[in-house]
Amino acid sequence: MNHEAASALDFSSDVVIELDQWHRRTTIPEELLALAERDIPQFWDRIARDMLEWIVPPQQTLRWEPLTAESVAPVARWFDGGILNVAVNCVDRHIRTWRRNKAAIIWEGEPGDVRVLTYYDLYRQIQRFANVLLSLGVRKGDRVTIYLPMIPEAVIAMLACARIGAIHSVVFGGFSAEALRERINDSQSSVLITADGGWRRGSIVPLKRNADQALEQCPSIRHVVVVHRGVEDATHVPMQSGRDQWWHRLMEEVPPSCPPEAMESEDPLFILYTSGTTGKPKGQLHTTAGYLTGVTATTRWVFDIADEDVYWCTADIGWITGHSYVVYGPLANGATVLMYEGAPDYPDRDRWWALVEKYGVTILYTAPTAIRTMMRWGEEYVQRHNLESLRLLGSVGEPINPEAWLWYWENIGGKRCPVVDTWWQTETGCIVIAPLAGRTPLKPGSATFPLPGFAAAVVDERGTPCPAGVRGYLVLTAPWPSMSRTIWGDPERYIQTYWSRFPGMYATGDAAVCDGDGFFWLLGRTDDVLNVAGHRLSTMELESVLVEHPAVAEAAVIGRTDAVKGQVPVAFVTVRESFPIHTGLADELKDYVVERIGALARPAEVHFTAELPKTRSGKIMRRLLRDIAEGRVLGDTTTLADPSVVQHLVQLYREE
Ligand code: WT7
Repeated sequence: MNHEAASALDFSSDVVIELDQWHRRTTIPEELLALAERDIPQFWDRIARDMLEWIVPPQQTLRWEPLTAESVAPVARWFDGGILNVAVNCVDRHIRTWRRNKAAIIWEGEPGDVRVLTYYDLYRQIQRFANVLLSLGVRKGDRVTIYLPMIPEAVIAMLACARIGAIHSVVFGGFSAEALRERINDSQSSVLITADGGWRRGSIVPLKRNADQALEQCPSIRHVVVVHRGVEDATHVPMQSGRDQWWHRLMEEVPPSCPPEAMESEDPLFILYTSGTTGKPKGQLHTTAGYLTGVTATTRWVFDIADEDVYWCTADIGWITGHSYVVYGPLANGATVLMYEGAPDYPDRDRWWALVEKYGVTILYTAPTAIRTMMRWGEEYVQRHNLESLRLLGSVGEPINPEAWLWYWENIGGKRCPVVDTWWQTETGCIVIAPLAGRTPLKPGSATFPLPGFAAAVVDERGTPCPAGVRGYLVLTAPWPSMSRTIWGDPERYIQTYWSRFPGMYATGDAAVCDGDGFFWLLGRTDDVLNVAGHRLSTMELESVLVEHPAVAEAAVIGRTDAVKGQVPVAFVTVRESFPIHTGLADELKDYVVERIGALARPAEVHFTAELPKTRSGKIMRRLLRDIAEGRVLGDTTTLADPSVVQHLVQLYREE
């Protein structure tokens, strides 16, 4: 696709922004863009050779066998024959240059403590921690679970795993003990890395306590490494002898150097769990060379990252955005990354802007939900600080509404910074649809076009491309290097979810529309997946937790549109007859969900009802519940088994 082809005429949004005066720091050679149009695998082959450091360069660019009636599974292998190490690419290669003493990570804790780690500091600490892992018996292919706050040790732990070929599984620190346990048991990790706590809004998140609770039923874990981060006197942290050891002690006991493991291109790099349409999270498996190629290239193109930049992605490393655009992408590019541990409103609502000013942040990458929150707080917090250092703004996680886009553009970027809306998923590993700042004209609310090397389309039920302006399913029509290779322990589910729906194409699960200029507009999920503040949650996951509560007979969860979070979960619950509804039961159920999954899953509302609306075949009519929750006019209800149920529900909703 020609990125310059979009004309200023006939577009569906009433605003087009062309940043003629904005100059890129990095260049994308025309000849490479032309190659991407002609031959996607050849293009990626060039990128992989140019951008990565190989021990042995790849022999075969791509082996791609799509799922067909005859085959049992799709095969995608990128860069076979290649040998490399991700930690070497992210750190070692920079210490051989002038970047040796360049700041790799500028970290600020919520209380205001600061640490700056140069590439050389990272180099030394990663090797020591790699030796710690080896001393705990971790070997290539073994799984290590990381449950840490946003502290430099999280990055060190990830890269130490990469150095020795262990597969990391990072679990977001906001997840509950139960969610952690489920992920540890699914991955069968032998080591857990956690901390005594992390700071959030002035208090300590008790990670070690959650971990201890999780580990009551995690037989695979042999060792726990604990970072001393909390304020507590280390002697107050219960340490189970023979199992738990302090990070800082272990680091003193090991030799300083650890040679990198020679990894094959398709060797696994990490597992990251994400929600799907069932109650069980899916462990997306990403591999070495393809993933690193995808994130290295997209970081450079989309963020135009250069040596002079101070780059800040506000995502937690527990999400794919943190993996790809806090750790691997920026470090592979030798960038300076800002990392902040805590809440945006601590001690006051200007904390982010204070950080931008203090460190001279040039590139800021965050989520629409954060932008809308700041919008609601008002401009006064923004105006307290000088944000002139900023030159590029990014958005990710959900569709960004034009209002938030324009607020971000005007109030944060001072109308001089392109806003790049980036569409992608845990499964894609890297950004897929986004503008190339300074080249692609922008329409507020559109992620614009697929990046070079990617092919996307909007198709109907039968897989036929939709005409311009017609809503359909977003599919990716060519394989790409950083695609998830399988679901850990469940290859069948991988095939079913992504490859069976439209033969030969990857089904994203998103709805989209292409306008007359070819701009892609993302319209949210087409399945039972919620997007709450940019985080993916499945309705089934919440429902299965709710029905485990002794009061609950049946539960249906839907996403209701929310002005700040995009969507929030709303639960409709039928209660067991033996269980009288008491005041407080709704709150009890909300807390129950938080306890079992984490605060991000807390239902905004719980409604009790005598029955749930179902089709004659017994399927819960979620669409109807959604309409009720959002107070919309009801659609067709003739397929309902008992239409009076709806009447009752509608009434109930109005009364509250
Ligand atoms: C889902 C993926 C990958 C980053 C964080 C979320 C939605 C993500 C956008 C965007 C519209 C977006 C999609 C996607 N999404 N970015 N720029 N515009 N929707 O990762 O948890 O794997 O969720 O987030 O629905 O499928 P994730």
